[in-house]
Amino acid sequence: MLALKRINYEDKEKQYLFVKDIPYDENGFINEYSGISKEEFESKAIPTLIAHEKGECLPEGYVPETYYFLWDGDTIVAQFRLRHYLCESLVNGAGHIGYYVGKKFRGRGYATKGLALLLQEAKSIVPEDEYYLRVNKDNTASLSVMLKNGGYIHHEDDSKIYVRIKK
Ligand SMILES: CC(C)(COP(=O)(O)OP(=O)(O)OC[C@H]1O[C@@H](n2cnc3c(N)ncnc32)[C@H](O)[C@@H]1OP(=O)(O)O)[C@@H](O)C(=O)NCCC(=O)NCCS
Repeated sequence: MLALKRINYEDKEKQYLFVKDIPYDENGFINEYSGISKEEFESKAIPTLIAHEKGECLPEGYVPETYYFLWDGDTIVAQFRLRHYLCESLVNGAGHIGYYVGKKFRGRGYATKGLALLLQEAKSIVPEDEYYLRVNKDNTASLSVMLKNGGYIHHEDDSKIYVRIKK
């Protein structure tokens, strides 16, 4: 059974093991907690991310963002991030949504199904009529995930494709 759960203290151990193994940058998905220690994850990363979700302690120019984990039963298989609304840098940049599937869990439909769950969740959070997403041109797997969830290509530049999904 697949479920999206927001970052929380109760699942700190499993969240930690998943997050520390996400590389710093894969296809533009940035993980500033790559290789973090368990102590720092629990004492700094979790409280910071929970504050950001509530719109607190945000860096200048940032909007509230929620970190979700996709659970298959009792195993975390992916991370999803939802920026609650757009600002200019998000309109022209990363958009509302980011996701990362653990390497050993790829090719099993988790990104596709997880994005579908996230879009349901986002309905009550995001005020815009469309979700904005962005993908590197060479990331065909992720583009396919977006298109299978109702996405259409809005425009492209040299290296990126900008996808939108109607609510
Ligand atoms: C891109 C990513 C999210 C895909 O996750 P996933 O769970 O493997 O995706 P799915 O299983 O839902 O598969 C989606 C599609 O990609 C295809 N696919 C999966 N892995 C692939 C690969 N390595 N090469 C090519 N296609 C691949 C699947 O066959 C499927 O294609 P289909 O729609 O034609 O059937 C995952 O590889 C990942 O986390 N990559 C690193 C971070 C990243 O790129 N995030 C997205 C940034 S926009």
